[in-house]
Amino acid sequence: MKRLVLFLFTVCATCVAMAQSVTLLPAPRSYASADKGFTINYKTKISCDKGAIPAGEYLASKLGIGTAMDGDIHLAIDSRLGSEEYQLSIFSEGITIVGGDYGGVFNGVTTLLQLLPVEVYSSNLVLPCTVKGCVINDAPRYNHRGFMLDVCRTWMSKGDLMSFIDLLAYHKINSLRLHLTDDEAWRIEIKSHPELAKVGGYRGVGSPVWARYGKWNKKWGGYYTQDDIRDIVAYAAQRNIEIIPEIDLPDHSHCLARVHPEVLCDTDHNSSAALGYDTRSVVCATNEANYTLIEDILGEVCALFPSTYIHVGGDEVDMSEWKRCPDCSAFMRRTNMYTTEELRDYFMLRLSEILEKNGKLMAVWGDAVSGDNLPKTTHVYGWESVDSCREVAAAGYPTIVMPGDYFYFDMKQSEHEAGHDWAAIFDVQKVYNFSPSAVGFTESEAKSIIGLEASFFSELYASHNPESPAYLHYMTFPRLLAFAEVAWIGVDVRNWNSFHKRVCRYYDKLDAMGVYYRLDAPKIEYADGRLSASVSDGSTLFYRQEGSSKVMRYMAPIATESPSRYRFISRRGRAISPTAAVDEYFETITPRFDITSSMKDSWNFPFDKAENYGRIARTTRAADVDDWVMFSFETAVSCRKMKVATGNFQLPRYIFEAGDVYVSYDGEEFVKVGVLENGAYVIENPSQPIKAVRIVCTSRGNGAAWVSIQPPTIYPVIE
Ligand code: ACM
Ligand code: ZN
Repeated sequence: MKRLVLFLFTVCATCVAMAQSVTLLPAPRSYASADKGFTINYKTKISCDKGAIPAGEYLASKLGIGTAMDGDIHLAIDSRLGSEEYQLSIFSEGITIVGGDYGGVFNGVTTLLQLLPVEVYSSNLVLPCTVKGCVINDAPRYNHRGFMLDVCRTWMSKGDLMSFIDLLAYHKINSLRLHLTDDEAWRIEIKSHPELAKVGGYRGVGSPVWARYGKWNKKWGGYYTQDDIRDIVAYAAQRNIEIIPEIDLPDHSHCLARVHPEVLCDTDHNSSAALGYDTRSVVCATNEANYTLIEDILGEVCALFPSTYIHVGGDEVDMSEWKRCPDCSAFMRRTNMYTTEELRDYFMLRLSEILEKNGKLMAVWGDAVSGDNLPKTTHVYGWESVDSCREVAAAGYPTIVMPGDYFYFDMKQSEHEAGHDWAAIFDVQKVYNFSPSAVGFTESEAKSIIGLEASFFSELYASHNPESPAYLHYMTFPRLLAFAEVAWIGVDVRNWNSFHKRVCRYYDKLDAMGVYYRLDAPKIEYADGRLSASVSDGSTLFYRQEGSSKVMRYMAPIATESPSRYRFISRRGRAISPTAAVDEYFETITPRFDITSSMKDSWNFPFDKAENYGRIARTTRAADVDDWVMFSFETAVSCRKMKVATGNFQLPRYIFEAGDVYVSYDGEEFVKVGVLENGAYVIENPSQPIKAVRIVCTSRGNGAAWVSIQPPTIYPVIE
């Protein structure tokens, strides 16, 4: 069967409403139901125009059927449609997907998958199955619908990366930027300099790059070989995703500098904070040998990745190094440069030339731009704020909009959850409500926008078990669904309520895809001595009472005079909600205390800073067996719970690897109450007011140069 039925369409209000009533994410531009659907059975075949063959093979593998010259499911390319536009028609005679190009066909395929039983995502589709009849006309608002994944701070294997690419592809994301190098690691094989990945890809014992995140007491990490990269690029291309590599220069290059110290400026290194460890991270801008090295690196990168654009970073450059460097200073004088920004521009232009020599164009982070300093072909990824995105757009650069406070999915989704908060704390609804005009882009600025990008920086992932995708998934779903729809359908036809309902109906599909997504937080109410919890998404509620390790199924309101003793979560398959409780549950108190220790405190993170609950403190060395830290309270503290912790917040590095926890109620006699887990311990329901807590190390060293100590977190007694 070869049918090329091309319906002309206009986007009418009814079509849009209809489009948002079916469970499709992102919603299509228009959806019209047809009388009869099509039944796919084992004999059904897929036929394809030549240019659509990889999409046909992809669909065939999902459906468990074969391909043929003349199939009931036909994938065609018709250049009368725009780039990535498609029409999907399902009638009793068959299914046709017509795309304006390969991307259009693939987009039609992903829409068809969403109309099939959810088992299509778990390779368990049972045939025959009938798909409802419909005609969908659809096209993207933005050509660039990107995701940036930091595979640097936390290593992701090729297999894990491919699984994540599948999830992006299901939602019509068409660009994946791999953040391949940063201070913490180098993740791509460079054949002319194999040491970059072989040494720079691993942390742990003997590595010249000290681990800041994750495991540190054994060798840990990895890198993509050039064969891996070719496989990843091809895998993504079949799924209509272009991989854009990022080699972050001239800063964020600490790892490069530890493997090749000669790239640094000729300055004294800052040894005070880190016991002789050279923490510098910016490469010298005037050492010609650096450009030769970078040419070698970028030459191989350009040959490996078919993308027109190669991202070379340019963010957060510590230009004070260049000011101190005699070579950089002399070069600036010789060439009449007055500011280090001009030297940064010189560096970026040299990179642009190298890329051009290799047939590529440059992409950079927004802070590499000041006015007209870079070629106007440069793709600029604005991240610092909406205003910074507007600035580069106003300067006329093709702009990819990814402000951290909307699209950095490493940010927390609510206050008491895991994640960063330096850009903002935001959940799926804020992502969904993003629109350039609503956040202040003028019409002329908006014309420079070529797309949107979401991102996940992974430094906190390392502490959440990088071998499991749970944390990455939790942080990205459902925010990614909102992002995908914003980037796909643009601004005018979006409706939060419709979207939210669709997301809840879509949970079945996320389950089948194996996603560890985030459920909405349960609603908690306390009135007339009764504590109740509810969810609107059909998930199952559980609760735990303070001091008990038992997790109970929530069935009915709990009669209690102490609502702050209860916390709730909901679950559904792999999905989990954040912890919910009455507000008082999260309240803490800050009684005065002193820290003493068998170890000295560091000059820049002294113990008395932590005593103000302001920040963490550090010792000047790693702990040995029998080293101890003690928290002594001015007045004995009554509380319902007290957490004492070594290590950084959410990054359990610089800890006591093992230790015992002792409590004293009079400041003299101590009793052991437990052992540290991940450097921390929670004292639950102390029987008396606590005068002091001592933690005693029972392990030798921790693979790091110091121990971090956090002020205790103390939850008050509830009257
Ligand atoms: C960035 O977040 N440093 C681009
Ligand atoms: Zn220099």
